[in-house]
Amino acid sequence: MSNRTSLILDVDTSTDDALALAYAVASPAIDLVAVTTVAGNVDVLKATANTLAVLEWLGAGSVPVHRGASRPLVQPHVDAAYFHDVGGLGGARLPISNREIGQDRGPAAIVRLARARPGELTLVALGPLTNLAIALNVEPRLPELLKSVVVMGGAFTVPGNMTPAAEFNILVDPEAADQVFATPFPSLTAVGLDVTNHVALSRKDWDAASGGEDLAQSALLLGEVGRFAFLTLAVEQFALNDPLAVAVAIDPTLVRHQRSEVAVEASGPERGRTRLIGPGQVKVAIEVDPERAVMDFKRTVGLPTGAKI
Ligand code: BDR
Ligand code: CA
Repeated sequence: MSNRTSLILDVDTSTDDALALAYAVASPAIDLVAVTTVAGNVDVLKATANTLAVLEWLGAGSVPVHRGASRPLVQPHVDAAYFHDVGGLGGARLPISNREIGQDRGPAAIVRLARARPGELTLVALGPLTNLAIALNVEPRLPELLKSVVVMGGAFTVPGNMTPAAEFNILVDPEAADQVFATPFPSLTAVGLDVTNHVALSRKDWDAASGGEDLAQSALLLGEVGRFAFLTLAVEQFALNDPLAVAVAIDPTLVRHQRSEVAVEASGPERGRTRLIGPGQVKVAIEVDPERAVMDFKRTVGLPTGAKI
């Protein structure tokens, strides 16, 4: 039996989701079983089209893609075009993929795959938690069917990136997030801004990926998806939010965590805040080894490792 980690990735494909897909496809430690999409950074149709295009670009056009929830459980959907550009892919010029998507929808695909391979699959959720909450509603045995769950989301001890209280993925669907954090998964890890804020690529890395060197597709993808951030928004660093969550799924030692119960604020100015409310079962990442995490990302996708932040 292979000792690779079999992953389902749940994505709202924008720029850092695209890099997470690149990491998952390039990593010899990962078997990417399926990808489900959700409304988040962009609407679910764009998220699905972006996912198909990115997978094709990466030479992974046979990985099944399932379109998921088109809106959060309760709140109206808000996107993040301000950061990822209107199409969500940061100005990337990738060929469109006309590949057919899977017949069952995201939450149904998660339930089907988990039932087919009980205790084997790791789900990494990189967008709002709507698909996972729906899947839990229709299959309450999901916690025992999945090997583990890793969520990119939350700002537990640091300010949010959307409001002082809230991180984007949790803010968009706080009801879904509250449900997921309250579920007794045997292994549920939250990789929030507390750690992802420290793991970033630099303009030098982007230059290297855009420079026409003889690089792998997974590395060239950074040159594509980084355009809007580095040129239009003129940022100097690009946080690897979603790639870090995938990396933690295969190497939990990249972070130090605290086991806690987590509550999510659903309304008012604090909406989307993730609170640590005492000992509990969620493994909340609170510290990261940033240099090791960045190096691991660069090596895995084939970026030059010399360019320093
Ligand atoms: C998260 O929000 C999205 O904009 C990113 O893709 C990431 O999943 C970071 O807050
Ligand atoms: Ca995301």
